[in-house]
Amino acid sequence: MTTAHDLDVTPTPLALLLLGREADPKSERGVDCPGDLPAPSDPDLVARARAAKEKLGDKVFVLGHHYQRDEVIQFADVTGDSFKLAQQAAARPEAEYIVFCGVHFMAESADILTTDDQRVVLPDLAAGCSMADMATAEQVAECWDVLTEAGIADAVVPVSYMNSSADIKAFTGKHGGTICTSSNAKRALEWAFEQGEKVLFLPDQHLGRNTAVRDMGMSLDDCVLYNPHKPNGGLTAEQLRDAKMILWRGHCSVHGRFSLDSVNDVRERIPGVNVLVHPECKHEVVESADYVGSTEYIIKALDAAPAGSKWAIGTELNLVRRLAKQHPDKEVVFLDKTVCFCSTMNRIDLPHLVWALESLADGKLINQISVDRETEDFAKLALERMLALP
Ligand code: 13P
Ligand code: SF4
Repeated sequence: MTTAHDLDVTPTPLALLLLGREADPKSERGVDCPGDLPAPSDPDLVARARAAKEKLGDKVFVLGHHYQRDEVIQFADVTGDSFKLAQQAAARPEAEYIVFCGVHFMAESADILTTDDQRVVLPDLAAGCSMADMATAEQVAECWDVLTEAGIADAVVPVSYMNSSADIKAFTGKHGGTICTSSNAKRALEWAFEQGEKVLFLPDQHLGRNTAVRDMGMSLDDCVLYNPHKPNGGLTAEQLRDAKMILWRGHCSVHGRFSLDSVNDVRERIPGVNVLVHPECKHEVVESADYVGSTEYIIKALDAAPAGSKWAIGTELNLVRRLAKQHPDKEVVFLDKTVCFCSTMNRIDLPHLVWALESLADGKLINQISVDRETEDFAKLALERMLALP
């Protein structure tokens, strides 16, 4: 086992990590958050954010993922799922600053897709993603060696979920693969199977499995699970050679909580309920749901639903609560009985947003997310392949 001692780093006390005041060298992102944040109790936060944004004018463009808090979403120029936000970041060359209200991998993608003169800012550097952290560059390079040893690397096309670090996106670009999001995973797999015979899908095993089996007509036996913590991924060369989909053993800690029991329970409590879930949920949950789709799909499904209809939604709680508020004529409930926010998405709160906007308005660039040139070039290749998917 690797210890902090082997890595020659002093472990960061958990309390400091949670406060976003220190760095975690093993994570995809550092989490040091410099500067003095306004107090959350400051009654003028909304007015301060408004004033700073007004002062910045067209120089700033604020992107907000659907899982962000309402207090932050109200300041977003555009809201969207990760696909729409990537498109929007690429389409705003006039904005000097892109303030990304989302998580680290999204801000990295925005930096990759924007021009060299634009600056991408993440209001709290502690807003990472546990799923993205489940695939490191070293682990993925090792996996490629295993595939090479098994004699199949030439037949494998990597498809990486947007929820991955820039390093993983660069690996994907370098090896002829594409990025996908939950709104275009099927198209990405169709494209990949035109390029090669097998797909290495990372880091979300659930999105990979659900798309392969539900949308592409593959069987569960066509899929194998590569565990980066086991020698050779815990698989034999024969298993790798027989597989069509090599799924990385990663998952979302929020969507992974929904279970078959949650579905059965809600159907019993609310007769006639429509169960609508995100494809990051486990396969058995997706199989038992009535509808499955990305956050953008979920929003559109609710918009189109008739008054009086009942919905149990399996995705992040900020979005579900917002949908319940926006559709008072429909019954909208959270699929699980326990509260399930994404803790890192929630790190971007009004004090961090005010601090970021006021700093920029004062001419101070803070919390810039910047991807190095080589990583950016290969990652861009993979992201542009995604944006060009039919
Ligand atoms: P989408 O935005 O692609 O629906 O993904 C959800 C998610 O988990 C983002 O972190
Ligand atoms: Fe990552 Fe899941 Fe949070 Fe999305 S919801 S940022 S995948 S942990």
